[in-house]
Amino acid sequence: MSEVEHYDIVVVGGGPVGLASAWHAARRGARVAVFEQFAFGNEQCGTSGAERHWRLQYTEPDLCQLTGEALPLWRELERAGGQQLLHAFGSLWFGDVDVATNEGKISATARTMDQLSIPYEWLTAADIERRYGFADLPRHFEGFVQPDGGAVDVRATVDGLLRLSESAGVVLRAGESVQELVPDGEGVRLRTPRGWCRAGKVVLANGPYVNRLLEPLGARLDLNVFEMALVTLRQRDPRARYPFWFVFQEPTEEDTNLFYGFPPNAWQDTDVVRVGPVFEVNPLDDPEQATGSPDPRHVSRVCDWVDRHLPVVDARPLARETCLAVLPADPERQFFLGTAKGLFDGGDNVVIATGGWGFKFVPLLGKVCADLCVDGATDYRVERLMLPDPTRP
Ligand code: BEZ
Repeated sequence: MSEVEHYDIVVVGGGPVGLASAWHAARRGARVAVFEQFAFGNEQCGTSGAERHWRLQYTEPDLCQLTGEALPLWRELERAGGQQLLHAFGSLWFGDVDVATNEGKISATARTMDQLSIPYEWLTAADIERRYGFADLPRHFEGFVQPDGGAVDVRATVDGLLRLSESAGVVLRAGESVQELVPDGEGVRLRTPRGWCRAGKVVLANGPYVNRLLEPLGARLDLNVFEMALVTLRQRDPRARYPFWFVFQEPTEEDTNLFYGFPPNAWQDTDVVRVGPVFEVNPLDDPEQATGSPDPRHVSRVCDWVDRHLPVVDARPLARETCLAVLPADPERQFFLGTAKGLFDGGDNVVIATGGWGFKFVPLLGKVCADLCVDGATDYRVERLMLPDPTRP
């Protein structure tokens, strides 16, 4: 590769957010390349598993509004790729309604939905047991089902974005890591094992690897990388259906005591389900410490919960995987999204989209990154997510 290779935009990281950024930018006429250190479609970062949660509700009204704004962009992506990606079978949040978690709080989320006229149905423990087959729930548990939530088909999303990016002319470079960024007045030079190239703008959508490129520039995002368990189980009655569920409980001394699960997914003929704990414990110092094998204690914690409270599911694990959660240390912000202006010289030419449980926002994050690269600004209200700018008053 010679120094003359030049793109308007280089995206570092070919996961869903990187590909969505590339697709949106290429549709606006930019010459775009994506550099992915592994293979496209790999499940080594945050995107492992067949499905991810789609939900409208957030405790924070601005994030609730953003999920609403992500919806038409999902519809546009479904139309462009010719495949349904969002499957609405409901999103059920229940448990201790006032327990404060990094995912939010049930009671405050219901108030936000009232304020924004997002429909939901309030349910008692008895309602949840009767309607969805849960059992032995503590009597004080309550919660809501939001009928428009459900799951996103992860693999169809990534495959669709790859196809669309390719047909929009995006150069897709697998197995090529970006090892160094050198911003200068006009853009950014990037070093890969094949040499140097230039870009007017760079999007860093490389999840847990972002600080490797930022640290030599004197910047660092305050994020934690957790390797969380994802367990596959079989459903005893293959026809039983219930919403995506997330149980909010008081933390134990050992962990955050939060569990979630999907019903058999709607786009496959299957009786298997996936469940997981959301334990923000034992952060990794480096993403390469991820082993792909979950902590056995975390697997038994979630399986014990299922065994006691979801009898339609056989709690003996069929498979055990992990997913990497890259979470901002400050849970108020949920994501990192914005330009690196003020973080280092030339940071205004670097856009960062990393961290957070972001799958539900994939097309929106991609559109915002493209807007920031092409227009230098976006109309989406993403102030909460913007990067810390030491020069901003
Ligand atoms: C979420 O909806 O953000 C979420 C769902 C399951 C696990 C973690 C986060």
